[in-house]
Amino acid sequence: MYNKKVIEVFSNPKNVGEMPDANGVGTAGNASCGDIMKVYLKIEDDIIKDASFETFGCAAAIASSSVATEMIKGLSPEKALNVKNSEVVEILEGLPPQKIHCSVLAEEAIHAAINDYKMKMESESKK
Ligand code: FES
Repeated sequence: MYNKKVIEVFSNPKNVGEMPDANGVGTAGNASCGDIMKVYLKIEDDIIKDASFETFGCAAAIASSSVATEMIKGLSPEKALNVKNSEVVEILEGLPPQKIHCSVLAEEAIHAAINDYKMKMESESKK
């Protein structure tokens, strides 16, 4: 069902695991399959220095998380918000149609983590 590229990334995913010193953490879930993705970001000087993920989901979700976290490293949070799941799918050289929603999970978890970071920064600045 998956192409070679997806299997390659899924078999050797990058950025797997919890990040204890993350300053932005976001979770996204898919109600239809019950899978969950958590993204951790370390943002300094308005740049995403590091990104990692934990995914309890299918191969497409894990491959998408790996690609998406690689893509956003080195970007500003604002630029990272523009990373689309369609770009992730392109890098993966395509996903089966019924698996496209798995790549959306990566986009949503990244957005949630960036929003978490922004909220933390706002409450810091009010202190
Ligand atoms: Fe649930 Fe892929 S089937 S994330």
